[in-house]
Amino acid sequence: MLRAGAIKEWAVESFPFDLNILKELSSEPIPNHLKRWWFAIGGTPMYLFMIQAITGIFLTFYYVPHPAEAYNSIAYITTEVRFGWFIRSIHKWSAHLMIFTLMLHMMRVFFTGAYRRPRELNWMFGVCLLLITFGFGFTGYSLLYEQVSYWASVVGANIAAATPFIGDDIGNFLRGGNDIGPNTLTRFFVLHIGVLPTAMVVLLGLHVLQIRLHGITTLQFKKDRAERENPHAESFPFYPNHFYTELILGLFLTFLLTILALVYPAEMGERANPLVTPEHIKPEWFFYAMFRWLKLTSLQVGVMGTMIFMGMLMFWPFIDRVFERKWPGREISFWLGVLGFIIFLVFTIWEAVV
Ligand code: HEM
Repeated sequence: MLRAGAIKEWAVESFPFDLNILKELSSEPIPNHLKRWWFAIGGTPMYLFMIQAITGIFLTFYYVPHPAEAYNSIAYITTEVRFGWFIRSIHKWSAHLMIFTLMLHMMRVFFTGAYRRPRELNWMFGVCLLLITFGFGFTGYSLLYEQVSYWASVVGANIAAATPFIGDDIGNFLRGGNDIGPNTLTRFFVLHIGVLPTAMVVLLGLHVLQIRLHGITTLQFKKDRAERENPHAESFPFYPNHFYTELILGLFLTFLLTILALVYPAEMGERANPLVTPEHIKPEWFFYAMFRWLKLTSLQVGVMGTMIFMGMLMFWPFIDRVFERKWPGREISFWLGVLGFIIFLVFTIWEAVV
């Protein structure tokens, strides 16, 4: 008979990892304000990304990335595969929620000034994570091979091809040639299930490592001041306190996703017809603001404007430092952020209603 002790001995000998290291790593002090759940929202896109990866693997078992079969394979998943409709619906809703919560996380970091020194690099990793997430949204939508999604990807590839200097190369790279064709779907598929997930995991690793190295920005709130009188209460340990907050958020999201998938399951649109351009082409909601902006300007100006905006977003911690040096205490970044958010909201609603 095998003794339990012998199994443990064998496990420790085969995998000589000191569990105290894990204890030390997970007892990181977390500032008190992270007890407010909206400050802990950064963990939400991470949880949703895991859901995306798991449901995505199941979908890949059946999806066929070829123009002649893509639509049929999704119809098969939706109507024939056991619980296929459910997995597909969770994948769809989790994608929307991930983008939404990512925007919330970014806004909380922006409006609390948590991107400031020494966290500039982590803000830049964050902007890359945002671009990767948009890339997931764009390529994933195209895989459906429905009329609306097909034409949205045609327009998207054409917009990318209007990038100054390197536009032709980007367009050819995305389309797999001069025009949208069988290669395009394969490319989008490879980007969606291979390149983007790898980039996401690497950057998430760097993002979390930076959070661990710098710690989370300590903010002061009136309510916390009483706690601050007792220096031991300035922070709390990651495990178990913060872990449970994240767990509760995760359980709530699981509940929400299940309700959304049951009440609004993913449906099938009209099959793509590359020969017939539809009257109205609509991207997904998170591209509405950019789409409206492009409609208000010419293609070249629109693309240039978008690139300048993305460049400013990437280097905002440094732009903010110039404002702070010139006009200290005026919180110019805060008010520019409010203005930017209002413009984003107005453009999004405008595009949604026309
Ligand atoms: C998949 C995407 C992302 C994930 C999973 C993620 C995750 C997290 C987590 C768990 C934290 C710890 C604090 C918290 O829970 O809020 C955090 C902090 C931070 N994130 Fe993200 N993040 C993502 C994207 C972004 C984006 C798009 C930005 C900005 C452009 C960003 C910038 C930051 C910064 C600067 C901090 C430090 C905040 C502080 O010190 O208070 N992150 N992130």
